[in-house]
Amino acid sequence: MVIIAQETSFDEAEMFELYDSVGWHPWTRDVTRVCRSLANSHLVITARDESGKLLGLARTVSDDEIVCYVQELLVNAQHHGKGIGRRLLEHLKGRYAHCRYFVLTTDHESTPEGPANHAFYRRLDLIEHHEQGLSAFGLRVRDPRSL
Ligand SMILES: CC(C)(COP(=O)(O)OP(=O)(O)OC[C@H]1O[C@@H](n2cnc3c(N)ncnc32)[C@H](O)[C@@H]1OP(=O)(O)O)[C@@H](O)C(=O)NCCC(=O)NCCS
Repeated sequence: MVIIAQETSFDEAEMFELYDSVGWHPWTRDVTRVCRSLANSHLVITARDESGKLLGLARTVSDDEIVCYVQELLVNAQHHGKGIGRRLLEHLKGRYAHCRYFVLTTDHESTPEGPANHAFYRRLDLIEHHEQGLSAFGLRVRDPRSL
């Protein structure tokens, strides 16, 4: 059984294990900052098994009216392909259904992780900005190896 719930306090060792399992080293290099970012988010939801083990997490930055930005959606690598990512994203889609924009940034399809992530998001009915006459802009990420 997988339990999806909102959480507001975060254990650094537990977060390290989750982020490390998917190889997100810029995050694991400063897990204290990761926990601060989680605490400052609009919403953090987790997926845990019946024993309480952390299986996955998603968080949002939002005004709860017009925009919901999904920043981070990850499932422990040992538990991929079990429907947990779908449960987390479906929860967020329902929670923020009233918002005009439901957006996220992910790796480009030409990168090693791109095809898997794009397949997942398309399966969950998300589409790329350019497919609806939109573009996304941002400042250049200063150092991709650190947060
Ligand atoms: C992307 C990620 C969150 C998906 O989570 P998951 O729990 O493994 O995915 P699910 O089992 O819920 O899959 C949901 C659907 O997407 C499809 N899907 C997932 N990964 C896929 C892949 N690599 N290729 C094709 N389809 C895929 C599944 O077939 C499934 O379809 P269905 O529900 O219609 O059967 C997970 O792989 C992950 O944590 N990756 C590392 C972190 C990351 O890159 N996060 C996203 C970028 S921010």
